[in-house]
Amino acid sequence: MTESLDGVFYITTPIYYVNDRPHIGHGYCTVLADVLARYHRLFGQETYFLTGTDEHGQKVQEAATKRGMTPQEHADDMHRHFKDLWPTLHVSNDDFIRTTEPRHTRVVQKALQQLWDKGLIYRGEYEGFYSPRVEKFFTEDELVDGKCPETGGEVNRIQEANYFFKMSLYQDALIKHINENPDFIRPESRKNEVLGFLKKPLQDLCISRPKARLSWGIPLPFDPDFVTYVWFDALLNYCSAIGLYSDDQRFEKLWSGAHHLIGKDILTTHSVYWTTMLMALEIPLPKHIIAHGWWLIDRSKMSKSLGNVVDPMAMKDKYGVDSLRYFLMREMVVGLDADFSEEAFLKRHNFDLANDLGNLANRLAKFIARSMGGVVPTLAEGTEFDDDLRQMAQELPAKVRQLILELKVDAAVEAIMNLVRRVNRYVAETEPFKVIKTDPAKAGTAVYNALEGLRFALNLLSPVMPGKCDELLGAIGAPPVVSRLEDLKWGDLKAGAAVNLPEAPFPRHELPKVEEKPKKPETPLIKFDHFAAVDLRVGTVLTATAVEKSDKLLLLSVDLGEPEPRTVVSGIAKEYSPEAIVGKQFVFVVNLEPRKIFGILSEAMVLAGHDDDGLAIFSPLRPLPAGAKIS
Ligand code: ME8
Ligand code: MG
Repeated sequence: MTESLDGVFYITTPIYYVNDRPHIGHGYCTVLADVLARYHRLFGQETYFLTGTDEHGQKVQEAATKRGMTPQEHADDMHRHFKDLWPTLHVSNDDFIRTTEPRHTRVVQKALQQLWDKGLIYRGEYEGFYSPRVEKFFTEDELVDGKCPETGGEVNRIQEANYFFKMSLYQDALIKHINENPDFIRPESRKNEVLGFLKKPLQDLCISRPKARLSWGIPLPFDPDFVTYVWFDALLNYCSAIGLYSDDQRFEKLWSGAHHLIGKDILTTHSVYWTTMLMALEIPLPKHIIAHGWWLIDRSKMSKSLGNVVDPMAMKDKYGVDSLRYFLMREMVVGLDADFSEEAFLKRHNFDLANDLGNLANRLAKFIARSMGGVVPTLAEGTEFDDDLRQMAQELPAKVRQLILELKVDAAVEAIMNLVRRVNRYVAETEPFKVIKTDPAKAGTAVYNALEGLRFALNLLSPVMPGKCDELLGAIGAPPVVSRLEDLKWGDLKAGAAVNLPEAPFPRHELPKVEEKPKKPETPLIKFDHFAAVDLRVGTVLTATAVEKSDKLLLLSVDLGEPEPRTVVSGIAKEYSPEAIVGKQFVFVVNLEPRKIFGILSEAMVLAGHDDDGLAIFSPLRPLPAGAKIS
């Protein structure tokens, strides 16, 4: 699963619906695209990075109506939450496209007209079910218990005239393309999912909505009574943004390197709808469709509809943008799901960033300030040199490149952190802090090598944490991040450069205290003897009467297998009438000290369980002799 670095690397994220604010799932996908874009730039490849917002369709129209706004007003307002978020997460997108922009709507209309002219769109009768949450149609067979098969949400029955795209024509060509390009859809599990989907005959795709029902969309150029289905509209953003039908040269160049990064929730729309649309439009297919997994919270998908979302802004503000990016990249294996929790986040932050990376920089900087005049020491000739450390650092760029091309971002980050840990061990082994007293030249060499190792790690990690890596490089007197990885050369750190790290770069954070739910029951353990000291017996109620002036108490006479029945006053009148319990058997504590209740001496206590509805008395499942012992 590797690819060459030839040509352009054009990376896209999904364009996000403006029905709500962004959450950490959107943050993840966009940061991952950014990290890939930054690595490819570092690998020396021409790179173009696009993200944007999906502003038409039923979901958006409904969200606007709820706010008492027109859909356009709503979109103008909501798209800002995405567009303004990205710079704060250090996302380096080259463009941001909105599907309401004329540069996009023009292209959608042109594409529709072309397909109409070629007879690839026809008018027909539509009957089926629409799920607004995923903006998709389903047949009756596909529904699960009458609900949307993807979300379990409500569907609307729809029967109306509509326009259809002849998607079914391309089924065989699509299967062939996927088989001939085994890494077209990554990872492999997702490819198999799509091939599985294509085992069933492919239907034609309904690509319109009558304006009478949904007005918020791009009008069909050949029938003004209809607007374009939101997915047909949205998918074209990947082409409209880079000059389809307006700048052929630019379009062809960028499109030849197209990589769509998406979540696995929108795999079918991309691998089936989009690819067949492209075939019909005679545009080559993108190079890769890469589907990542879901961030889960308590094992269910984080989603706006479920309301269990984590706000990326809040995490960033609390712990810093670099820590957030680091966590997202290190914790999730691209393609698999991962659990989001503040605890997991802080573990990564504290272990990897505060301890391993932050401490290393901090200790070196403090030492240099204290004992080396605050400047990078000289690599003294004739002092011992650690070839092993240098070799590890020099081999790392190629290794990281390989892992990134295989989309193993977590493994790439881990490989870099291993260098950081190796530098920590090197410092522990060479002991510059001690050696300085006896052999300053040797201490200088040790510190110089440690700084070089750290500099390599920071350069390699810079696509993940651009802010902090840049800051730390400056702090250790190193040149800024190289613009191409091939320029990263051991020994380029200049002796004499000022080292100045005023404060710990990644302060440790304690886990927020969560109040633990008390364990039930909360009582301390007892010995068996203590339990055995309680004499529990089966008793048969002989008579029961209400106690005057009390609405809670019943006066019972109970046969406990003794010569005389006992008198028991019991607070069960709210739940039980006297008639309901006479002749019944219950459990009694018979060795409690007798107690006066309402002036009557009660000689035993009946056992009952309690909840919000009151109490329930315990009774044996079959009659037992009165006085039978319970243990
Ligand atoms: O589907 N974990 O937009 P959308 C990880 N407008 N990623 C998540 C996630 C989670 N829990 N939840 C969402 C749309 N995402 C369409 C796309 S493209 C032409 C049109 C990410 O706002 C993930 O990348 O619902 C997912 O595919 C995307 O957000 C869906 O965003
Ligand atoms: Mg969604």
